[in-house]
Amino acid sequence: MNLKTDADTETVKKTEEKENKQKLNEDVKQCERSLIIIKPDGVRRKAVGDIISRFEKAGLEIERIRVLEMDKTIAYTHYHDHEGKPYFDRLMNYMTSGPSIVMIIKGKDAIKKSRELMGPTDPAKAPKGTIRGDYGTDITINAIHGSDCLKSAEREINIFFGNYL
Ligand code: CMP
Repeated sequence: MNLKTDADTETVKKTEEKENKQKLNEDVKQCERSLIIIKPDGVRRKAVGDIISRFEKAGLEIERIRVLEMDKTIAYTHYHDHEGKPYFDRLMNYMTSGPSIVMIIKGKDAIKKSRELMGPTDPAKAPKGTIRGDYGTDITINAIHGSDCLKSAEREINIFFGNYL
């Protein structure tokens, strides 16, 4: 004899839906992506191997990687929000001064973890042991860029890797 009521079935269905949604959210978090740029000073200082291994040791995966000498157009596309700032021209000259390494890194909490590895924008405020603390020169020449949120990551990945996702 089946004693299950419609209400019971409905409750089971709702619980399953909730669990599926939680699992989906967890899966999305597991494969969060960030766009990372080892800037021209980082490449010149031969810090590429060390920086990449810091991401790997933090449990993050390099999903795509390329060497790119940026022209003004791509540097502007990436940084146009900073136009008008007193440091903008210096930032453009810096980013077009030599090859950068551009990569998509992937993994759980990729954005937060990357920002912890990088340290604050200003190397003077970045502790030793962070990438900017170890390799940055000043607040503009700061060795590395990483996306600051999911929306920026999506926009920035699209600039450098197109709509492959
Ligand atoms: P990044 O994390 O790539 O994001 C924007 C970049 O602009 C930043 O690193 C620095 O290179 C530069 N930048 C941001 N704020 C300042 C500032 N206050 N003075 C000089 N340069 C800055």
